[in-house]
Amino acid sequence: MTIKAKPAKPGKKIYTCRECGAQASKWSGQCGDCGAWNSLTEEVAATVSKASRHARAAGFSGVLSSICSLGDIETHAEVRSPTGFSELDRVLGGGMVHGSVVLLGGDPGIGKSTLLQQAIGRLSQTLPTLYVTGEESLQQVGLRAQRLGVSEGDLRLLAETQLERILTLAVEEQPRVMVIDSIQTVFSDQIQSAPGSVSQVRECAAALVQYAKQTGTALFLVGHVTKEGALAGPRVLEHMVDTVLYFEGESDSRYRLIRAVKNRFGAVNEVGVFAMTDKGLREVSNPSAIFVSRHERAVPGSVIMVTREGSRPLLVEVQALVAESHAPSPRRVTVGLDQNRLAMLLAVLQRHGGITMYDQDVFVNAVGGVRISETASDLAVVLAALSSLRDRPLPAEMAVFGEIGLAGEIRPVQNGQERLREVVQHGFKRIIMPKANAPKQAPRGIEVIAVQRLGEAIEHL
Ligand code: TYD
Ligand code: MG
Repeated sequence: MTIKAKPAKPGKKIYTCRECGAQASKWSGQCGDCGAWNSLTEEVAATVSKASRHARAAGFSGVLSSICSLGDIETHAEVRSPTGFSELDRVLGGGMVHGSVVLLGGDPGIGKSTLLQQAIGRLSQTLPTLYVTGEESLQQVGLRAQRLGVSEGDLRLLAETQLERILTLAVEEQPRVMVIDSIQTVFSDQIQSAPGSVSQVRECAAALVQYAKQTGTALFLVGHVTKEGALAGPRVLEHMVDTVLYFEGESDSRYRLIRAVKNRFGAVNEVGVFAMTDKGLREVSNPSAIFVSRHERAVPGSVIMVTREGSRPLLVEVQALVAESHAPSPRRVTVGLDQNRLAMLLAVLQRHGGITMYDQDVFVNAVGGVRISETASDLAVVLAALSSLRDRPLPAEMAVFGEIGLAGEIRPVQNGQERLREVVQHGFKRIIMPKANAPKQAPRGIEVIAVQRLGEAIEHL
């Protein structure tokens, strides 16, 4: 059992966990709260109340709380405004919710500032907006806005990193939408640790969220991610906000995915797809087409699968390379797929398909930088590996989906019919799918190969 330590005296040295924000008076290798290793960083204890006291002094007062019953609450549907990007509206759950706080995370240079400048440019035509930049100068923002074709209209800019200044000016300006780019650059005078440290990020975010909630301002916070891909700063940042969006994609690919990993106003795991062009981000309305590389002719090791991202099906190409291994233990490498799952699937293939790869390195890649966390990819991964091992391409214009169980059975997946429709729509001629998902009558123009066992799928090829 852990006993919660008393808050440290202001000015005293404390150690804060980068992962969960827990505080300890002594350094140790592992955080006692969340169990993360090597995550404690030295800081100077902050007075939590000071930042919020200051925020209050800056012009908005807290509302006295009282107990009420459910029936007393006046509920009204949240007010939303379109951001001008239907793909961004989709991940937000149908447009920007007034008074909500959105955290947008992603690697440096992936396009966070670009996206928000474009979105706020459109929003500013109907709402007063404020773009606070702590990373770029006003000139840089202006130059980029020109290139992005953001109209000069009502877009108001502020280059400032000090929390108290930002809040004071925001109270005067009264924007309905505010962007903070980025939360890691904001610091408060009231907190002694360095800008970007856990306490600074946490306290500044808390004060900004409080401001947004009390004034009904929609707030977008840009957050940096660490090498491991998590948002820099404590996890508590994710708890404080209503919506957490992540930018995904490979830096060398021009396609960008935005995924909602948390959303109080919509579905999680919803994905918006964009392409980076010389005029900023452009939406991709038919994402299936971009994750499938059309080869001149069928190549070994390549399989088209149907996955689901959020509420829509998506065609993705899975590529495998199987090559003789000279290492004591052969390599199992995946990009965009689960590595442990690959090892399991190869074991099932050996046990129930009689095909061994213990002396082969196996590499599997989901094309285009998508991350697939669905088990519906199982059949595609196994067939791609098999196709590469035999050096024989799968029949052209074929798609695949299905989960593989440990007993070698092909299990049904959710929304089978919808996946089938997507495949038909894109002109595929054959599909291998779980028998339990297969329709009684195949749609016109496609051969449906319904399988129950892994062996059946392999036989078909
Ligand atoms: P940026 O939005 O500055 O990234 P972040 O804020 O996430 O760090 O994105 C900058 C990248 O996008 C940069 O590598 C250049 C590229 N880019 C374009 O390709 N076209 C454009 O019109 C813009 C504005 C940026
Ligand atoms: Mg930026």
